[in-house]
Amino acid sequence: MLVALDGPAGAGKSTVARAVADALGFTYLDTGAMYRCVGLRAAARPDVPLDPAALDIAFDGDRVLLDGEDVSTAIRTPEAGLAASRVATDPAIRSTLVDLQRKIIADGDWVAEGRDIGTVVAPDAEIKVWLTADPEERARRREIPVAELLERDERDASRESSPMKPAADAIEVDTTGLSLDEVIARITGLVGSVR
Ligand code: DC
Repeated sequence: MLVALDGPAGAGKSTVARAVADALGFTYLDTGAMYRCVGLRAAARPDVPLDPAALDIAFDGDRVLLDGEDVSTAIRTPEAGLAASRVATDPAIRSTLVDLQRKIIADGDWVAEGRDIGTVVAPDAEIKVWLTADPEERARRREIPVAELLERDERDASRESSPMKPAADAIEVDTTGLSLDEVIARITGLVGSVR
């Protein structure tokens, strides 16, 4: 079974996806971390053309490994987020990462979090959730100005290659003003209804 959890930056996807995976005994996949790894490499060597297929991106529990190096902390900076959002517009990078994501989720029960899980990576996912929150609340959670967040939204939503948008059959959950427990209950309830 797959729970696809998509939505804009700062909607609370990572926290919610981790908690829902824990509650259900599913494994959590953070696809944003994969784009952040590519962003990190691209930002470090802007003069070298990047071959995404040559990068070794792996997860070891909560750790993210890039070519064997633990980049779990390095990928979380605002700069790495910005670099990720830039490389995420490249169709070759997207298709390499989407292939890898499909391989990872092929077996077992997963909560996969990203922007295009329900639309591109796994259009057959049993449960699709589009997680949102007010821009002010999202910017506060990310500790970035609202203008920067809206710029990120705009870039993610307007790119030609798999723009960020809810799947037609996604269920929208607006987390503004909801507690984490309320959000988890809503999503695990959806899973319970199809099992
Ligand atoms: O969720 P995040 O902030 O870690 O994502 C970092 C960037 O990667 C974000 O700008 C959008 C992009 N991304 C994407 O295009 N598709 C995904 N499935 C996940 C993230």
